[in-house]
Formats: sequence, structure tokens, C-alpha cells
Amino acid sequence: MTSAVAAALALDTAAQDLLFRAARTANSFTDEPVGPEHVQAIHDLIRSGPTAYNSQPLRVLLVRSAAARTRLLPHLSSGNRDKTATAPLVAILAADPGFPAELPTLFPHKPWVKDYYTEQSVAEAQARFNATLQAGYFILGVRAAGLAAGPMAGFDNAGVDGEFFAESGWRSLLVVNIGRPGPDAWSERLPRWEYADVVAEV
Ligand SMILES: Cc1cc2nc3c(=O)[nH]c(=O)nc-3n(C[C@H](O)[C@H](O)[C@H](O)COP(=O)(O)O)c2cc1C
Repeated sequence: MTSAVAAALALDTAAQDLLFRAARTANSFTDEPVGPEHVQAIHDLIRSGPTAYNSQPLRVLLVRSAAARTRLLPHLSSGNRDKTATAPLVAILAADPGFPAELPTLFPHKPWVKDYYTEQSVAEAQARFNATLQAGYFILGVRAAGLAAGPMAGFDNAGVDGEFFAESGWRSLLVVNIGRPGPDAWSERLPRWEYADVVAEV
């Protein structure tokens, strides 16, 4: 990175490292607990992230107890089970297709936008799209709290939805292990694209 490029970032170097450069996806964790204050601080930070029509369809189910994990683990792919069984805290990130009902509150200057989502398939697609954006904010929020996240899409979504969201109608997107990284939490960093590989200009 040239000095001109480095100077273009407003975020201080320590924060850049915490959120991106030094942050890794953790596959093992120490026993140090992740308390409710951590999750509340993460929420307080990431709730300001943008979503279409301020819709905020992300929902988070915390899985901490042994009993709740027993319900979750069978739905995970086998390679994701051990680390999820031992992570200090597990969050199931989900989308709420019922978000349009809240739009008159969340987007009060144009309350009619809720009518754009009368078709269930459209509401569900928008819920997934915006909640997935918020899932990205969530991972960065975990890192901002000085913790490591282990996001996993390797699970049976229908199984998790049936187990945990039969009443709410939420749709699972991602399971995220959260904690302080343990020994051998990760292997070598995988390659990343260069600027010219992914950015075009017309
Ligand atoms: C949406 C998403 C799904 C993922 N699913 C899994 C998974 O099911 N199992 C797993 O071990 N890692 C999973 N990962 C972890 C990625 O492989 C990892 O974040 C990526 O290789 C970058 O690693 P790094 O942050 O250590 O550089 C997932 C990550 C994301 C963001």
C-alpha cells in the first residue's frame, strides 16, 4: 500500500488491524466467557448500520446453555460441530420476513413502503438481503468488541428454522461462534484479491 493510499483511511491503524488486517475467523476459543454486556455493546454499535428503508430485518438468537446447544449441533455440518460445542457463545443470525409490518415505525416519513412487500416471496428476499448485510456488520461488531467471530453457513437451514423459529417465522442465515481465540484458532491467512482483480471503472 502506498503512503497516499494509507493516508486515505480515516480509521487509525490499531482499529484497522482490530477490524480487518489482524482479525481472523476463529476455529477454537479460550474458556473466557462472553457476557451479555459484550452482545449489548455489539448491538449498540451495529444497529446504526444502513439497511433498505431502515428495515433492520436481522434477528439474533443466542445459544449458550448445554441444552440449547444439544438442539443446535445435530443441524450443523459435521466439521462445524466440535468448535460450536465449545465456543463460549453461539449466535444464530436470522432474517425476519415479517419486517414490513414495522416499516411505518422505522420509516415513518413514507409509511406506505410496507406495501412494496405484500408478496411473501419479495418480503423474504428483501429480509434475507438486508439481514445478510447486517450479518456483516455483526461480524465487524464482534471484532470491535475485541472478540473473534467464527461465522458458519454449513448447516441445515430448514432444520434450524424448524427447531428454533417455528413460531417466529425467522429464517436462519448464519451461525456465529464468538469468543477469544484459542491456541491453533486458525491456519495461514488465505489469499485475497488485489485491487485490480475486483475493481473496474467505466
Ligand atoms: C458466510 C460465511 C460462511 C462460512 N461458513 C463456514 C463454515 O460453514 N465452516 C467453517 O469452518 N468456516 C466457515 N466460514 C469461514 C471462512 O472460511 C473464513 O471466514 C474465510 O476463509 C476467511 O478466513 P480469515 O478470516 O481467517 O481470513 C464462513 C465464513 C463466512 C463469512
